[in-house]
Amino acid sequence: MVSSTNQLLMHSKVAEYVASFMRIGFLNGEYVPLVEARIPIFDRGFMFGESVYEVIPVYDGVAHFFEEHIARLESGLQQLSVKRPSLQWNEIFRNLVEANRQGDCQLYIQVTGGVDRLRSHRPILSEMEPTTVAFLQPVRFEERDSKSSGIRAFAQPDDRHAFCHIKTTNLLSNIGAKIRAVPGSEIIYLSEGFVAEGASSNVFAVREGRVYTPSLSNRVLPGVTRKALIGYCRSLKIEIVEGDVSLQDLYQSDEVWVTSSIREITPVTQIDGLPIGDGVSGPIWRSVYDEYLKHRPEPSLDYPTGGQG
Ligand code: PDD
Repeated sequence: MVSSTNQLLMHSKVAEYVASFMRIGFLNGEYVPLVEARIPIFDRGFMFGESVYEVIPVYDGVAHFFEEHIARLESGLQQLSVKRPSLQWNEIFRNLVEANRQGDCQLYIQVTGGVDRLRSHRPILSEMEPTTVAFLQPVRFEERDSKSSGIRAFAQPDDRHAFCHIKTTNLLSNIGAKIRAVPGSEIIYLSEGFVAEGASSNVFAVREGRVYTPSLSNRVLPGVTRKALIGYCRSLKIEIVEGDVSLQDLYQSDEVWVTSSIREITPVTQIDGLPIGDGVSGPIWRSVYDEYLKHRPEPSLDYPTGGQG
């Protein structure tokens, strides 16, 4: 006999499946059911990974740090020599919220170099129009209590490409590392002995009341949450140092956190099986997280299901 928990689970899976068919996304100027959205095979994003994306957190229909994410997207396009699509991002977002009636979610935007006539290693031609995709996907942002228990992290050599400062969809290493890792944990990349960033986050460490984070380089995404957090530390008069952070530094820290648009600011309480500080979330995390919450839109009361970014 199927247990009632299993039945509930089945119902929610069926509901999620049905809902995915009804979701409306944006593709090159059109609003279409996501399951019907199609991209030609000669799209340069598909062929060569010539593609940038953004994940913007949305709390009960209100986007957080919208302009900052769009600015990073447009900077990424410029660095890949992809034309800036002539689109009103704000209007697309509002239309998606209206069409999907989503509460807490992520706004996903991806822009590629566009469609060529054949597969060729040539540069993007002026007649190629960028391909733009946008959709909303439900997210369950962790609340303070569940966040405060912290997550585990595992260090590994940084085996990614040399353009980690651009938010491209080339995530072969990041996804592989996540698949191999303990669910809900984070991977911390080490480049030439120093911490670069997480597989989908930036990394912070606290020692004797001072906060440390790796400086920006081609191995570190300039995280929107990272930048906001640096600002919050400054306004709280907490000293923040951007520079080299080694794995030993992390092991010996009083607190370690990872930041991202979906994880917000999450304490890491164990790295490679070793407890960080007392092995629980710390007081500096509580103050900066309080500051973060003060500036964040309110989440919706009914949480849809969703994954971690
Ligand atoms: N990723 N570094 C990497 C490699 C990331 O993938 C992310 C976020 C960050 C944090 O950036 P931000 O604070 O701007 O979200 C740092 C998103 C959430 C994702 O790929 O789903």
